[in-house]
Amino acid sequence: MSQLTHQTRDIPGNSPRDILVTSALPYANGPIHIGHLVEYIQTDIWVRFQKMRGQNCWYVCADDAHGTPIMLRARQEGITPEALIARVAEEHKADFSAFRVGFDNYHSTHSDENRHFAELIYERNRDKGHISRRTITQAYDPVEQMFLPDRFIKGECPKCGTPDQYGDNCEACGASYSPNELKNPRSAVSGAVPEQRESDHYFFRLGDFEPMLRDWTRGGGLQPQVANKLDEWFDAGLQEWDISRDAPYFGFEIPDHPGKFFYVWLDAPIGYMASFRHLCDSPRGRAAGLDFDRFWDKDSPAELYHFIGKDIIYFHALFWPAMLHGADFRTPSAVFAHGFLTVDGQKMSKSRGTFIKARTYLDHLNPEYLRYYFAAKLGPGVDDIDLNLQDFTARVNSDLVGKVVNIASRSAGFIAKRFAGRLSPTLANPQLHAEFVQAGESIAVAYERRELSRAVREIMALADRANQYIDEQAPWVIAKAPDRDADLQAVCSMGINLFRVLIGYLRPILPGTAADSEAFLRIEPLTWAAIAEPLLDHEIAPFKPLMTRVESAQIEAMLEASKEDLSTTAPPSPPADQASLPVTRDPIAETIDIETFAKLDLRIARIRSAGLVEGADKLLRLELDLGGETRTVFAGIRSAYEPSDLEGRLTVMVANLAPRKMRFGVSEGMVLAAGPGGKDIFILSPDTGAQPGMRVK
Ligand code: 2FM
Ligand code: ZN
Repeated sequence: MSQLTHQTRDIPGNSPRDILVTSALPYANGPIHIGHLVEYIQTDIWVRFQKMRGQNCWYVCADDAHGTPIMLRARQEGITPEALIARVAEEHKADFSAFRVGFDNYHSTHSDENRHFAELIYERNRDKGHISRRTITQAYDPVEQMFLPDRFIKGECPKCGTPDQYGDNCEACGASYSPNELKNPRSAVSGAVPEQRESDHYFFRLGDFEPMLRDWTRGGGLQPQVANKLDEWFDAGLQEWDISRDAPYFGFEIPDHPGKFFYVWLDAPIGYMASFRHLCDSPRGRAAGLDFDRFWDKDSPAELYHFIGKDIIYFHALFWPAMLHGADFRTPSAVFAHGFLTVDGQKMSKSRGTFIKARTYLDHLNPEYLRYYFAAKLGPGVDDIDLNLQDFTARVNSDLVGKVVNIASRSAGFIAKRFAGRLSPTLANPQLHAEFVQAGESIAVAYERRELSRAVREIMALADRANQYIDEQAPWVIAKAPDRDADLQAVCSMGINLFRVLIGYLRPILPGTAADSEAFLRIEPLTWAAIAEPLLDHEIAPFKPLMTRVESAQIEAMLEASKEDLSTTAPPSPPADQASLPVTRDPIAETIDIETFAKLDLRIARIRSAGLVEGADKLLRLELDLGGETRTVFAGIRSAYEPSDLEGRLTVMVANLAPRKMRFGVSEGMVLAAGPGGKDIFILSPDTGAQPGMRVK
């Protein structure tokens, strides 16, 4: 990675940075929801900041239009995939634009540009020997005459027997397994019993790129948690990646292999390039002299950043740079991963009404509120963020309405009524104004580093300061004095000027409110450099309220409407997740602090007896002696141990895990195990005189 990610080459006189930014491409078979919006809002704020700083920054995105779920969804609706993706693209664009996500271009992976680059990247890699062919056996639906992705096979969980479980993990007991272990498997498409059939597939030889990827990973552009995850993946070994799918499939046919299509994830990130190519070729791109090669050539001096969710790091930090490198294109300067969204501390849930579509939110609430709340919560890391609806209401009302907008409304009335809208010719407190301007340096660094919550904190501290100034000056008292007109005008003009600085700093987060404020102030769109220049001897427009309070009734109505959305959505279909390899969706485990770790009660236990569990061929039932107390634990270790190997031996258990009811009985703890699985699971600890019940840490 040749680019630093925290550059601050924004000082006047330096030439602007060329920056290309992307957000992950949403699938074209479902609506945008507030979980998606975390990423688009985060990216949009960062891009708006760069633009305000005068950088040559471009933000592109597209719909991710290919794959089996989209093909089947169209079939279900009785329309062509092309008609489906055209409709969804319009919905997505309308939602993004309402949330003021300001893409410079929004394209589709089902486009000529994308076909061109997908073929080019494939062919260049193929010609260098990075593509191999192999026959694989896969589930096949004999009725629909199609191979079935894992997530389109359902059956009973092999562990707990819960029916109607999709693919490779059980929603009831959390077990993961391979889809061919499902009992009574059925195709989720036709209901037929799947057959196993052979087919030739094409693979991208990811392992060829290990040295290059290790270098790229150490280039300094990855978040520490992401770099650690990559190290784990390197240690586990880089597997060949299956990039082909058999017909019928909605996607691009592989040039030299009729009937074989590129897997959706092959051409999805290439959609970033395609969208940018489309922008370069548009009137706007041409007018700006945008040069595709300058951004994508192997030695490009431009910066390239991908904002993504932590669940798709494998694709963006391994497959994507490797494919680009193999095809002689530049690699990303950095990949910025973020965490997932919870609502009121829990996963978004349709039944609780917290699975909130962008459109449903917009029907009830101002998009600026959510932009502000996410900014106030977002940091540069991969931690999940929580939308706490009470906190959301309180913060928006107290920070935006109570503090920021209030500064303008407290000052504007007198300026309009008493001075015909004219601001005074000098600043009442130039030092305070200079402090506000000075604070912009640290705020800019926070934006640049994606420390949005810090930027918000610092801006709100300034808002407090501005309100304090107005409180101290008490213009409503001055207004009553007969001969203090000049003072009144000066104090209120000062208030307006402090408001102007604040709105400048908040502009990347609140583009709508900033635009309304610029109209009120009768000024050009604010740039970062322009913030420092006070507005003097200038006529402003009459004040109109810039933002209203959030009412809890609006939130309630939105939650209710989200519950209703449930009954109007399409019949249940497999989870939207379209990745075929479980490992590729492996999110980074959340870190825990030392206090949480300290809560684990790890103890030596002696295995008194071990036995098979009827109806659960992966489990063993262990009776563990904790030095006086006996616990029953069910452990998924049957593949590695015969019961007789275990009896009398020592192991380490988590003794304070809450008991868990399973189909076979209650499990009262857990044994610690290490190893890749299968025969290699290790749970025993050496018998060196440790006593059962002894604490391990
Ligand atoms: O996970 C997803 O929602 C994918 N549609 C993201 C694709 S990002 C990029 F690679 F195109
Ligand atoms: Zn289960």
